[in-house]
Amino acid sequence: MTASNKPVIGFNSPVPLTQPLEFEIGCGKGRFLIDRAGHHPHTGFIGIDIWWRFLKFAVKRVENLGLSNIRFYKAEAFDFLQNVLPDQSVSVFHIYFPDPWPKKRQKKNRLFSKEFLELASRKSTDNAVIRVTTDHEDYYLQMCGTVIASEGRWAVQSKRSGISNSPDDTPTHYEAKYRAEGRTLHYAEFVKRTVNSVPPAFVDTKSTAPLR
Ligand SMILES: C[S@@+](CC[C@H](N)C(=O)[O-])C[C@H]1O[C@@H](n2cnc3c(N)ncnc32)[C@H](O)[C@@H]1O
Repeated sequence: MTASNKPVIGFNSPVPLTQPLEFEIGCGKGRFLIDRAGHHPHTGFIGIDIWWRFLKFAVKRVENLGLSNIRFYKAEAFDFLQNVLPDQSVSVFHIYFPDPWPKKRQKKNRLFSKEFLELASRKSTDNAVIRVTTDHEDYYLQMCGTVIASEGRWAVQSKRSGISNSPDDTPTHYEAKYRAEGRTLHYAEFVKRTVNSVPPAFVDTKSTAPLR
């Protein structure tokens, strides 16, 4: 996907490159991000999902609430990061219940990988964080392992697992569902380690108009 040949679908307004900018991958119906945007009016929020059939509920709800600091786009995570978001723009990545691809031969399809972490490094601000939650222990261990193997670019800031953890924020759709089922959930926060700090580069929203 590029800005010129395949516009992302979502609100008929530019990508809000305000600072700070939080980015949710696989936001589904947007329950978590909409609530967070309501509580943080001076932060920009972008949620993406590959399925419009989920996103349309998010878009409708934001329209009803009249929130101006959040956008949703139908997009694939690598595509959107590589081709839409500028370097050094994201301060928080939210990745909740990413598809676990549980079978051995499917693991290569998982979003969180060495390549993803490298791309996230490029697209994030200094001291950015990646917040993840999953019920899938193998994927959780893989994510932590990928961070530990990142040669100091990222570090595990916090992690916890359990059945009765209270969510810090509004739970996502899957978190609410799995908590009700009594599943063990795994939460982790990864922080970007920056050797040489470079000021974030921001794009004037006017210049992002073709991305609508
Ligand atoms: C298990 S659901 C979790 C939804 C939501 N995060 C929650 O916690 O309720 C995973 C979501 O990720 C989306 N998804 C999967 N791969 C994706 C990708 N590569 N880029 C963007 N979204 C993706 C799916 O369409 C789905 O909505």
